Amino acid sequence: MKALILVGGFGTRLRPLTLSVPKPLVEFANKPMILHQIEALKAIGVTEVVLAINYQPEVMLNFLKDFEAKLEIKITCSQETEPLGTAGPLALARDKLIDDSGEPFFVLNSDVISEYPLKEMIEFHKSHGGEASIMVTKVDEPSKYGVVVMEETTGQVERFVEKPKLFVGNKINAGIYLLNPSVLDRIELRPTSIEKEVFPKIAAEKKLYAMVLPGFWMDIGQPRDYITGLRLYLDSLRKKSSSKLALGTHIIGNVLVDESAKIGEGCLIGPDVAIGPGCVVESGVRLSRCTVMRGVRIKKHACISSSIIGWHSTVGQWARVENMTILGEDVHVGDEIYSNGGVVLPHKEIKSSILKPEIVM
Ligand code: GDD
Ligand code: MG
Repeated sequence: MKALILVGGFGTRLRPLTLSVPKPLVEFANKPMILHQIEALKAIGVTEVVLAINYQPEVMLNFLKDFEAKLEIKITCSQETEPLGTAGPLALARDKLIDDSGEPFFVLNSDVISEYPLKEMIEFHKSHGGEASIMVTKVDEPSKYGVVVMEETTGQVERFVEKPKLFVGNKINAGIYLLNPSVLDRIELRPTSIEKEVFPKIAAEKKLYAMVLPGFWMDIGQPRDYITGLRLYLDSLRKKSSSKLALGTHIIGNVLVDESAKIGEGCLIGPDVAIGPGCVVESGVRLSRCTVMRGVRIKKHACISSSIIGWHSTVGQWARVENMTILGEDVHVGDEIYSNGGVVLPHKEIKSSILKPEIVM
C-alpha cells in the first residue's frame, strides 16, 4: 500500500520554530511530527510514502534517509514548482500512487496528531464500498476546519463544507483520507483544494464516507494547539505504554524525558512536559506544560510553563518563562528575566523582560 503526506506550506503559524526546520521536522513529543505518521503507516503495511512538498525537499530527504533504512520503507518526494493546494499534489504524484494492484492509498495532512487508527480505516473503507473515506472528529470550534455532515449509521457524507461561516455541525475533517485510485481522475494538475473542490462533489454522488476517529486528535500547526496536543498525546501514551513516561518524586503527571537529558536535584517537572536529547536541567527548576527541544540548558531555579523552548537555547537562573512563550533556535534568556508570551526569533539574546505577548526580532 502507498501513502501521500501533504507536506507543503511554510508553517508560518509555527514560527519561529519553522524558521529553522520545515514544519514536519519540528519535534513533537521528542520525535519529528512526520515520523509519528510514517511509523503509523509502516505499522499497517504501507511500503512507500510520497512527500508532496513545495520547498526545501533536500532538507527533508536528507533527514529522512536514515529512517528509510531503519524503518524499511521507501520515502520519495514529489516536488511542486508552485503550491498546488491540497488536491493538485495528488495529480502531480499520480504515477507514484497508482500501480497494478488498484488498491486505495492514504493521504495525510502533515500537521495532525492522533492514534492513527489506520487499520480500522481500511476495514471501514472495504465495508462501505464507496470511493473515498475520511476520518472525522468532534471539536468545539468547527469553523477553523472542514465540517462534515453525515448519516450517523452508515457514515455516508451528505455535505462537506470547508471553514463554514455559519454553524453546520461539529464533526470535522481530521485530515486523514483513504482514496480509491479513481479519485485521481477527478483532479486536474493545477492548484486545487481537495476540501473545496473534490470532497463536496464525491459527497454529492454519495460516494464519500466518514468514520468517527476513536481516541484523541489535534492539528498541532499552531503553538497553543501544539501544547494541547502534547497533553492529549501523553494521556494516550499513559494508557498504551506508560513505561515510556518518566517516574520519580520530582515528576507530576505525564512527562517524557529523553534518556540523554540530565535533570538536577530538587526539580519539579510536569504535568505534560517533553524534554529532548542532550538537555541539561539544573537544580530547583520548575517545568509544566512545555516542550524543551534538543540541547537546551535551563539554569537553576528557572520556571517555565505553557511554552516551547527551541533547540540549543538557554534559560537563565531564576528566569520565568510563561504564557505561550516560543523561543526559536539558539535563544539565550538572561538570569531573572520574565517572558510573558514572547515569541523570540532564532539566535537572539534576551536581556530585558518581555512583559506582554509580542514578537522579538
Ligand atoms: N504539497 C502541498 N502543497 N501541501 C500543501 C499545500 C500545497 O500547496 N497547501 C497546504 N498543504 C498541506 C499542509 O502542509 C497541511 O499538511 C495540509 O496540506 C493542510 O493544510 P493546512 O494549511 O494545515 O490546512 P488547515 O489546517 O487550515 O485545514 C485542513 O486541515 C484541517 C484539519 O487539521 C483542511 O483539510 C481541513 O478540512 C481540516 O479540517
Ligand atoms: Mg493544518
